[in-house]
Amino acid sequence: MILFFSACGNSRFVASRLAELTGQRLMQINPLDASPSLSLAPQEPLGVVCPVYAWNTPRVVNNYIKRLSVSGSPSYLFLALTCGDTVGRAPERFAKLLYSKGMSLSAAFSFVMPETYINLPGFNLDTPEGARSKIETVKMRLPLVAEKINGRVGEVDVVRGKWSWLNSYLVNPLFYALLITDRKFTVSDACTLCALCQKLCPLQNISIVNGRPRWNGHCTNCMACYHHCPVNAIHFGKATQRKGQYFFQDAR
Ligand SMILES: Cc1cc2nc3c(=O)[nH]c(=O)nc-3n(C[C@H](O)[C@H](O)[C@H](O)COP(=O)(O)O)c2cc1C
Repeated sequence: MILFFSACGNSRFVASRLAELTGQRLMQINPLDASPSLSLAPQEPLGVVCPVYAWNTPRVVNNYIKRLSVSGSPSYLFLALTCGDTVGRAPERFAKLLYSKGMSLSAAFSFVMPETYINLPGFNLDTPEGARSKIETVKMRLPLVAEKINGRVGEVDVVRGKWSWLNSYLVNPLFYALLITDRKFTVSDACTLCALCQKLCPLQNISIVNGRPRWNGHCTNCMACYHHCPVNAIHFGKATQRKGQYFFQDAR
């Protein structure tokens, strides 16, 4: 069984390819599910695929895993992280969360995919060529990781980056406390009221009020609304102006 969370499609792509290559079932994480549960067959492995947010698994994923009730203990439990460049100590922090639920992480893998975080000055999307090259590299890496999963190989095969401890343990809580907000979202007159942002928000945090999207205060800045807007009408303060949009489109 592979559980996945994805805002812009990178993790969805990795999760669905891994499911194909390993013959596993695929299930999307619904962060709004108050009492999620799943039942594993004997010897069935469990995988979690999600993006890295500030060098950790996203809090919405962590909270879902905390609430998740699993019947049958997984024979092998792996984490597959997608990231723009580095994952820090996300596997260790996730292993600790699993441990508190009586489960142990067998393996962790990272996949460097196109960047989606652009909410600060200096944080930009990859160039189209850069994004394509990351995706091509991931396409080559996926069968190798699937082989390890099929062989139940226990290892941590991730790109941690510099200052991994500092990023995962100190920068991460500051990032959530100081930068995660939906108060900075604006909508320009280009908005056609297609309501795609409302439909795609994984936290159902957007409502349409007086003919405009409105964010309701429980956002995790996944940026699904911004990147998928067909007319680029959504912005996050000035930080996203003229930065372009990205979401994964499979050209297999
Ligand atoms: C809020 C937020 C924080 C992020 N933090 C990191 C990070 O710490 N390190 C990194 O390499 N990429 C980071 N990224 C980039 C994403 O992890 C990466 O683009 C991921 O593949 C997006 O997955 P998705 O398309 O499934 O949503 C961040 C993206 C967002 C939206």
